[in-house]
Amino acid sequence: MMKYAVRTEGLTVRRGRHEVLLDVDLAVPVSQVVGLPGPSGGGKSTLMRSVVGVQERVSGTVEVLGEPAGSAALRRRVGYVTQSPSVYRDLTVGQNLR
Ligand SMILES: Nc1ncnc2c1ncn2[C@@H]1O[C@H](COP(=O)(O)OP(=O)(O)O)[C@@H](O)[C@H]1O
Ligand SMILES: [Mg+2]
Repeated sequence: MMKYAVRTEGLTVRRGRHEVLLDVDLAVPVSQVVGLPGPSGGGKSTLMRSVVGVQERVSGTVEVLGEPAGSAALRRRVGYVTQSPSVYRDLTVGQNLR
C-alpha cells in the first residue's frame, strides 16, 4: 500500500541567483485534498513544477506515487490544471477532463 501521493526530502530549487525553495520536507498522504496557500512569489508554482518534473536545478528527493518525480511511469498517472489557461479550447470537454 502506497503511503504518500507526494513526498519530498531536502528539496532545494535555485531560480536565478536565489534558492527559492530551501530544504523542504513534505509528505502528502494519498486520498487527501491539500491546499498550498502562500504569498505571491512564495514558491508554490516552483513546488508544483518540481512535483510534475519540469523544474530545472532541483536537488533533494521528490517522489510522486512512490516514483521519482517526472519519471516516465508517472506521465499517465499525474494530472494537473495550469493557472492559465485552465481549459484548452482546442480540446473537447471530455478531453479537457481526461
Ligand atoms: N523564471 C524565473 N527566473 C528566476 N527566478 C524566478 C523565476 N520564476 C520565479 N522565480 C523566483 O522564484 C520565486 C518563487 O516563484 P513562484 O514559485 O512562481 O511563486 P508562487 O507560485 O508562490 O507565486 C519568486 O519569488 C522569484 O524570485
Ligand atoms: Mg504561482
